[in-house]
Amino acid sequence: MSQGLFITGAGTEVGKTLIACALAHHLRTAKRPVKVLKPIISGFDPDLAETSDTALLLRAAGVKVTKAAIAEASPWRYAEPISPNMAAARTGTPIDMDAVMNHCRAALSDDALTLIEGVGGVMAPLTDEATVLDWMAALGLPAVVVGGSYLGAMSHTLTAVSVLIERAVPIRAVVVSESRDQPVPLAETASTIAGFMPHLPVIAVPRIAPIERPWEAIDGLGELLED
Ligand SMILES: Nc1ncnc2c1ncn2[C@@H]1O[C@H](COP(=O)(O)OP(=O)(O)OP(=O)(O)O)[C@@H](O)[C@H]1O
Ligand SMILES: [Mg+2]
Repeated sequence: MSQGLFITGAGTEVGKTLIACALAHHLRTAKRPVKVLKPIISGFDPDLAETSDTALLLRAAGVKVTKAAIAEASPWRYAEPISPNMAAARTGTPIDMDAVMNHCRAALSDDALTLIEGVGGVMAPLTDEATVLDWMAALGLPAVVVGGSYLGAMSHTLTAVSVLIERAVPIRAVVVSESRDQPVPLAETASTIAGFMPHLPVIAVPRIAPIERPWEAIDGLGELLED
Protein backbone atom coordinates (compact mmCIF):
# COMPACT_ATOMS: atom_id res chain seq x y z
CA MET A 1 0.00 0.00 0.00
CA SER A 2 1.25 3.48 -0.75
CA GLN A 3 1.85 5.81 2.16
CA GLY A 4 -1.10 7.97 1.23
CA LEU A 5 -3.98 8.81 -1.02
CA PHE A 6 -4.85 12.21 -2.46
CA ILE A 7 -8.57 12.86 -2.56
CA THR A 8 -9.31 15.26 -5.36
CA GLY A 9 -12.47 16.28 -7.12
CA ALA A 10 -14.05 17.08 -10.42
CA GLY A 11 -15.08 20.31 -8.73
CA THR A 12 -15.87 21.90 -5.41
CA GLU A 13 -18.68 20.64 -3.15
CA VAL A 14 -18.84 17.23 -4.82
CA GLY A 15 -18.14 15.06 -1.77
CA LYS A 16 -14.35 14.98 -1.30
CA THR A 17 -14.56 15.51 2.44
CA LEU A 18 -17.38 13.01 2.86
CA ILE A 19 -15.49 10.33 0.92
CA ALA A 20 -12.20 11.06 2.69
CA CYS A 21 -14.05 10.78 6.03
CA ALA A 22 -15.57 7.46 4.92
CA LEU A 23 -12.10 6.16 4.03
CA ALA A 24 -10.71 7.32 7.38
CA HIS A 25 -13.60 5.66 9.18
CA HIS A 26 -13.11 2.44 7.24
CA LEU A 27 -9.42 2.33 8.19
CA ARG A 28 -10.21 3.00 11.86
CA THR A 29 -12.81 0.27 11.89
CA ALA A 30 -10.21 -2.09 10.42
CA LYS A 31 -7.78 -0.94 13.15
CA ARG A 32 -5.42 0.47 10.55
CA PRO A 33 -3.59 3.68 11.49
CA VAL A 34 -4.76 6.71 9.54
CA LYS A 35 -3.71 10.35 9.32
CA VAL A 36 -5.69 13.15 7.68
CA LEU A 37 -4.59 16.38 6.07
CA LYS A 38 -6.45 19.18 4.34
CA PRO A 39 -3.41 21.36 3.90
CA ILE A 40 -5.13 24.27 2.15
CA ILE A 41 -8.64 25.34 3.11
CA SER A 42 -10.51 28.45 2.03
CA GLY A 43 -13.76 29.69 3.51
CA PHE A 44 -12.40 28.82 6.96
CA ASP A 45 -14.16 30.66 9.79
CA PRO A 46 -12.40 30.10 13.15
CA ASP A 47 -15.75 30.59 14.92
CA LEU A 48 -17.18 27.69 12.93
CA ALA A 49 -14.05 25.55 13.04
CA GLU A 50 -16.03 22.61 14.46
CA THR A 51 -17.90 22.21 11.17
CA SER A 52 -14.91 22.80 8.88
CA ASP A 53 -13.65 20.11 6.53
CA THR A 54 -10.60 19.82 8.76
CA ALA A 55 -12.68 19.10 11.86
CA LEU A 56 -14.79 16.51 10.03
CA LEU A 57 -11.69 14.74 8.76
CA LEU A 58 -10.08 14.74 12.21
CA ARG A 59 -13.26 13.43 13.80
CA ALA A 60 -13.56 10.62 11.24
CA ALA A 61 -9.92 9.71 11.88
CA GLY A 62 -10.55 9.64 15.64
CA VAL A 63 -8.40 12.69 16.41
CA LYS A 64 -9.60 15.17 19.03
CA VAL A 65 -10.54 18.43 17.34
CA THR A 66 -8.35 21.10 18.94
CA LYS A 67 -6.90 24.33 17.59
CA ALA A 68 -3.50 22.65 17.44
CA ALA A 69 -4.86 19.63 15.55
CA ILE A 70 -6.60 21.92 13.05
CA ALA A 71 -3.45 24.00 12.59
CA GLU A 72 -1.40 20.85 11.99
CA ALA A 73 -3.86 19.32 9.52
CA SER A 74 -4.59 22.62 7.75
CA PRO A 75 -1.70 25.09 8.01
CA TRP A 76 -2.98 27.20 5.09
CA ARG A 77 -6.37 28.46 6.25
CA TYR A 78 -8.13 31.33 4.48
CA ALA A 79 -11.27 33.18 5.44
CA GLU A 80 -12.48 33.99 1.95
CA PRO A 81 -14.49 31.21 0.27
CA ILE A 82 -12.66 31.67 -3.03
CA SER A 83 -9.87 29.93 -4.93
CA PRO A 84 -6.70 29.55 -2.84
CA ASN A 85 -4.53 31.76 -5.08
CA MET A 86 -7.00 34.63 -4.67
CA ALA A 87 -7.68 33.98 -0.99
CA ALA A 88 -3.95 33.95 -0.26
CA ALA A 89 -3.37 37.08 -2.35
CA ARG A 90 -5.89 38.92 -0.17
CA THR A 91 -3.77 38.16 2.89
CA GLY A 92 -0.69 39.57 1.14
CA THR A 93 1.22 36.26 1.27
CA PRO A 94 1.02 33.87 -1.68
CA ILE A 95 1.07 30.15 -0.99
CA ASP A 96 4.60 28.75 -0.92
CA MET A 97 4.25 25.49 -2.84
CA ASP A 98 7.57 24.16 -1.57
CA ALA A 99 6.29 24.58 1.97
CA VAL A 100 3.05 22.78 1.08
CA MET A 101 5.04 19.92 -0.43
CA ASN A 102 7.32 19.70 2.59
CA HIS A 103 4.34 19.63 4.94
CA CYS A 104 2.72 16.82 2.98
CA ARG A 105 5.90 14.78 2.66
CA ALA A 106 6.60 15.14 6.38
CA ALA A 107 3.16 13.69 7.12
CA LEU A 108 3.84 10.55 5.07
CA SER A 109 5.21 7.50 6.81
CA ASP A 110 5.15 3.74 6.60
CA ASP A 111 3.29 3.59 9.92
CA ALA A 112 -0.04 5.00 8.76
CA LEU A 113 -2.02 5.76 5.65
CA THR A 114 -2.23 9.52 5.15
CA LEU A 115 -5.36 10.81 3.45
CA ILE A 116 -4.84 14.23 1.90
CA GLU A 117 -7.89 16.17 0.77
CA GLY A 118 -7.13 18.64 -2.00
CA VAL A 119 -9.03 21.86 -2.40
CA GLY A 120 -11.69 22.62 -5.01
CA GLY A 121 -11.43 20.81 -8.32
CA VAL A 122 -8.38 19.17 -9.85
CA MET A 123 -7.20 22.38 -11.49
CA ALA A 124 -8.11 24.90 -8.81
CA PRO A 125 -5.34 27.54 -8.79
CA LEU A 126 -3.16 27.55 -5.67
CA THR A 127 -0.81 30.29 -6.83
CA ASP A 128 -0.76 32.29 -10.03
CA GLU A 129 1.35 29.50 -11.56
CA ALA A 130 0.36 26.25 -9.86
CA THR A 131 -2.90 24.32 -9.62
CA VAL A 132 -3.90 21.34 -7.49
CA LEU A 133 -2.81 19.19 -10.44
CA ASP A 134 0.79 20.40 -10.13
CA TRP A 135 0.68 19.65 -6.40
CA MET A 136 -0.61 16.13 -7.07
CA ALA A 137 1.90 15.44 -9.82
CA ALA A 138 4.78 16.55 -7.57
CA LEU A 139 3.55 14.47 -4.63
CA GLY A 140 2.94 11.39 -6.77
CA LEU A 141 0.37 9.77 -4.47
CA PRO A 142 -2.44 7.72 -5.98
CA ALA A 143 -5.53 9.84 -6.50
CA VAL A 144 -9.14 9.21 -5.61
CA VAL A 145 -11.24 11.33 -7.94
CA VAL A 146 -14.61 12.33 -6.52
CA GLY A 147 -17.35 13.60 -8.80
CA GLY A 148 -21.07 14.16 -8.50
CA SER A 149 -24.11 13.00 -10.45
CA TYR A 150 -25.60 16.41 -11.24
CA LEU A 151 -26.27 17.37 -14.86
CA GLY A 152 -22.81 18.06 -16.33
CA ALA A 153 -20.93 15.97 -13.79
CA MET A 154 -19.84 13.35 -16.32
CA SER A 155 -17.94 15.88 -18.39
CA HIS A 156 -16.34 17.37 -15.27
CA THR A 157 -15.29 13.93 -14.03
CA LEU A 158 -13.96 12.71 -17.37
CA THR A 159 -12.04 15.96 -17.80
CA ALA A 160 -10.50 15.61 -14.34
CA VAL A 161 -9.47 12.00 -15.02
CA SER A 162 -8.08 12.95 -18.42
CA VAL A 163 -5.72 15.65 -17.08
CA LEU A 164 -4.55 13.36 -14.29
CA ILE A 165 -3.68 10.66 -16.83
CA GLU A 166 -1.94 13.25 -19.01
CA ARG A 167 0.24 14.21 -16.03
CA ALA A 168 0.87 10.56 -15.11
CA VAL A 169 -0.85 10.83 -11.72
CA PRO A 170 -1.90 7.29 -10.75
CA ILE A 171 -5.65 6.99 -10.18
CA ARG A 172 -6.83 4.53 -7.55
CA ALA A 173 -10.54 4.97 -8.23
CA VAL A 174 -13.28 7.32 -9.32
CA VAL A 175 -16.09 7.84 -6.82
CA VAL A 176 -19.45 9.18 -7.97
CA SER A 177 -21.09 10.70 -4.93
CA GLU A 178 -24.79 11.22 -5.50
CA SER A 179 -25.68 14.89 -5.90
CA ARG A 180 -28.77 16.40 -4.31
CA ASP A 181 -30.33 16.89 -7.74
CA GLN A 182 -29.60 14.44 -10.53
CA PRO A 183 -31.35 13.97 -13.84
CA VAL A 184 -30.94 10.18 -14.04
CA PRO A 185 -30.41 7.35 -11.53
CA LEU A 186 -26.94 7.28 -9.96
CA ALA A 187 -26.08 3.90 -11.48
CA GLU A 188 -26.62 5.24 -14.98
CA THR A 189 -24.14 8.07 -14.45
CA ALA A 190 -21.60 5.75 -12.82
CA SER A 191 -21.83 3.11 -15.56
CA THR A 192 -21.51 5.71 -18.29
CA ILE A 193 -18.36 7.10 -16.66
CA ALA A 194 -17.04 3.56 -16.20
CA GLY A 195 -17.53 2.89 -19.91
CA PHE A 196 -14.93 5.55 -20.67
CA MET A 197 -12.37 4.09 -18.28
CA PRO A 198 -12.64 0.30 -18.36
CA HIS A 199 -9.43 -0.17 -16.38
CA LEU A 200 -10.41 1.98 -13.40
CA PRO A 201 -12.76 1.13 -10.55
CA VAL A 202 -15.78 3.46 -10.56
CA ILE A 203 -17.68 3.37 -7.29
CA ALA A 204 -21.15 4.88 -6.87
CA VAL A 205 -22.01 6.24 -3.42
CA PRO A 206 -25.72 6.87 -2.93
CA ARG A 207 -27.13 9.91 -1.15
CA ILE A 208 -26.78 9.55 2.61
CA ALA A 209 -29.55 10.96 4.81
CA PRO A 210 -28.46 13.97 6.89
CA ILE A 211 -27.11 12.42 10.08
CA GLU A 212 -24.38 13.43 12.53
CA ARG A 213 -21.59 11.30 11.02
CA PRO A 214 -22.78 10.51 7.48
CA TRP A 215 -19.47 8.90 6.51
CA GLU A 216 -20.23 6.00 8.85
CA ALA A 217 -23.17 5.08 6.61
CA ILE A 218 -20.96 4.67 3.53
CA ASP A 219 -19.57 1.30 2.62
CA GLY A 220 -18.18 -0.25 -0.51
CA LEU A 221 -14.98 1.80 -0.44
CA GLY A 222 -12.82 -0.95 1.03
CA GLU A 223 -11.42 -2.06 -2.34
CA LEU A 224 -9.95 1.39 -2.73
CA LEU A 225 -7.75 0.82 0.29
CA GLU A 226 -6.13 -2.37 -0.97
CA ASP A 227 -3.18 -2.51 -3.31
N1 LIG B 1 -23.46 10.95 -1.28
C1 LIG B 1 -23.80 11.99 -0.52
N2 LIG B 1 -24.81 11.87 0.37
C2 LIG B 1 -25.17 12.90 1.16
N3 LIG B 1 -24.57 14.09 1.17
C3 LIG B 1 -23.54 14.25 0.31
C4 LIG B 1 -23.10 13.23 -0.57
N4 LIG B 1 -22.04 13.70 -1.28
C5 LIG B 1 -21.84 14.96 -0.87
N5 LIG B 1 -22.74 15.29 0.08
C6 LIG B 1 -22.89 16.55 0.80
O1 LIG B 1 -22.60 17.62 -0.07
C7 LIG B 1 -21.90 18.63 0.63
C8 LIG B 1 -20.55 18.83 -0.04
O2 LIG B 1 -19.77 17.65 0.18
P1 LIG B 1 -18.27 17.76 0.67
O3 LIG B 1 -18.14 18.83 1.71
O4 LIG B 1 -17.81 16.40 1.02
O5 LIG B 1 -17.64 18.27 -0.71
P2 LIG B 1 -16.16 18.73 -1.02
O6 LIG B 1 -15.89 18.28 -2.41
O7 LIG B 1 -15.27 18.29 0.05
O8 LIG B 1 -16.29 20.33 -0.99
P3 LIG B 1 -15.12 21.42 -0.86
O9 LIG B 1 -14.69 21.70 -2.27
O10 LIG B 1 -15.81 22.58 -0.22
O11 LIG B 1 -14.02 20.84 -0.02
C9 LIG B 1 -21.76 18.18 2.07
O12 LIG B 1 -22.83 18.69 2.83
C10 LIG B 1 -21.87 16.66 1.96
O13 LIG B 1 -22.30 16.03 3.12
MG1 LIG C 1 -14.13 19.38 1.32
